[in-house]
Amino acid sequence: MTTPPLISDIEKRRVFGIISHPDAGKTTLTEKLLLHGGAIREAGTVKARRSAKFATSDWMEIERQRGISVTSSVMQFHYRKKFISIMDTPGHNDFGEDTYRILTSVDSAVMVIDGAKGVEDQTRKLFAACRLRGIPIFTFINKLDRETKDPLELLSELEEVLGMPATAVTWPIGSGLNFQGVYDLVTCQLHLYKEARSLDLRVHGPEDPALESILTGYNLKTFREEMQLLKGAGNPLDQKQVAAGELTPVFFGSALADFGVTEFLHHFLEMSPPPQPRNTSSGKVCPEDPDFSGYIFKIQANMNPAHRDRLAFLRVCSGTFEKGMTATLSRTGKPVKLTQSIQLMANARNQAETAVAGDVIGIYDTGTYQIGDTLATGRELFAFEPLPTFPPELFALVRPRNTMKAKQFHKGVKQLAQEGAIQVYHNVYNEVILGAVGQLQFEVFQYRVEHEYHAPIRMTPLDYTLARWVPKEQEDKLKACLDSRSMLVYDRFERPLILFANLFTLRYFQERFPFAKLVDSLELTEGTL
Ligand code: G4P
Repeated sequence: MTTPPLISDIEKRRVFGIISHPDAGKTTLTEKLLLHGGAIREAGTVKARRSAKFATSDWMEIERQRGISVTSSVMQFHYRKKFISIMDTPGHNDFGEDTYRILTSVDSAVMVIDGAKGVEDQTRKLFAACRLRGIPIFTFINKLDRETKDPLELLSELEEVLGMPATAVTWPIGSGLNFQGVYDLVTCQLHLYKEARSLDLRVHGPEDPALESILTGYNLKTFREEMQLLKGAGNPLDQKQVAAGELTPVFFGSALADFGVTEFLHHFLEMSPPPQPRNTSSGKVCPEDPDFSGYIFKIQANMNPAHRDRLAFLRVCSGTFEKGMTATLSRTGKPVKLTQSIQLMANARNQAETAVAGDVIGIYDTGTYQIGDTLATGRELFAFEPLPTFPPELFALVRPRNTMKAKQFHKGVKQLAQEGAIQVYHNVYNEVILGAVGQLQFEVFQYRVEHEYHAPIRMTPLDYTLARWVPKEQEDKLKACLDSRSMLVYDRFERPLILFANLFTLRYFQERFPFAKLVDSLELTEGTL
């Protein structure tokens, strides 16, 4: 048994991820939150930190060239007696599985939406990954300092596209040149946007005559009408529904102008949950349990290309982590000593001496860990629920250019698959097929196999975009049903799956062979096949 954690320590922790379509303002909002928390002193630091990090790592040359961040870390700060950890997710067009996987380690998510564009493709996918876990999702509608869509339209778009009811917590008054501020429906405070400076006024509801001397006629009329509509047809703010991930509270503002961000942060800290119990193979584990437990949700390759060491990211789920402690790796049943561990801060990497539920620590790894591994002390051997397999949408056949390098090639493939850098399958001829959710994963894979394992490769893109797992007992029967637009492959656990060219091909296949049990990767849990 380790030192039992203090409940007050756990209660003050907030671990969340920010999701958005590229350019919606995720980095800008992150930066403003860090500025509020005093974790950084100047705007521009988050972007600068990213470029500084690239310089230290060779294989991340790709990132530097493309000005994006493949890897992600944790940014932590104290604010209003809370200890906040923002899990930084790669937010570029070529997002990868890491983006999804990081969302398994958070207790809530913040979805940033560009007010002019509404819900975009990538937001929808990430939102689906959050929904899967039933975590609370908060929405920040950004860029109100520019012309945006009508706020009521944005609310209904959110509800329609995401299939979740939304409730406004703050409401914008105008947008773009006509933007006058946001009204807080909970505190009845009006925050005036004047030359990008915030001025607060407490009013007695939208009908308060004091508003007449503050807001322009048009804005006031529209604002009052919108408030009437929300009162009559809007969803009430139900905390239970928010906590269960069934209702998204919505905030409006401008991350760039740092407007509406404070209101968002205050409400978010009130409404978002501290670390929650987690399901395991032997029941629930609670954050305040005295025994230490955690799981690995990300493995980051060597920051130093001279060594093949890796950093495993562990989310603590219960008990107290103490540097140097011995825990059991449940996959192997073997003890491991956790001597080299670091805290992952926004600007520095400090030695992690202790950590409790909600904290994320980095453990140096020489090849011991795999994504999804459970580490625990005490109790009988158990494992946290396996991480979902995220739906790959891009596939490529990959071969070593030089057959003399086949051994290095296969070693690289195996290790990169273990790290979760890419999905690896094989076809009936035992050829390696890669699956990814973003193109960048292929580029990183190629770069790393060639530079770290010295095995030049040839990659041939395949015309498939969908994967469906099938039960082993249907495998032989289904082989006879395949055509040029579908292909049978096996994942690294030897589970068979069929790759389809597109949704049309998949539907046609299902119509012709209704007996086929086709399982989506996100539904792929033990017992579904
Ligand atoms: P991302 O991480 O979601 O990809 O978006 P990021 O924060 O990098 O923002 C994308 C662009 O949108 C940036 O402009 C940023 O300044 C701008 N932006 C973010 N929030 C707001 C906002 O509230 N209002 C307005 N008007 N713009 C906003 P850029 O020109 O691409 O980059 P930069 O030169 O400003 O860094």
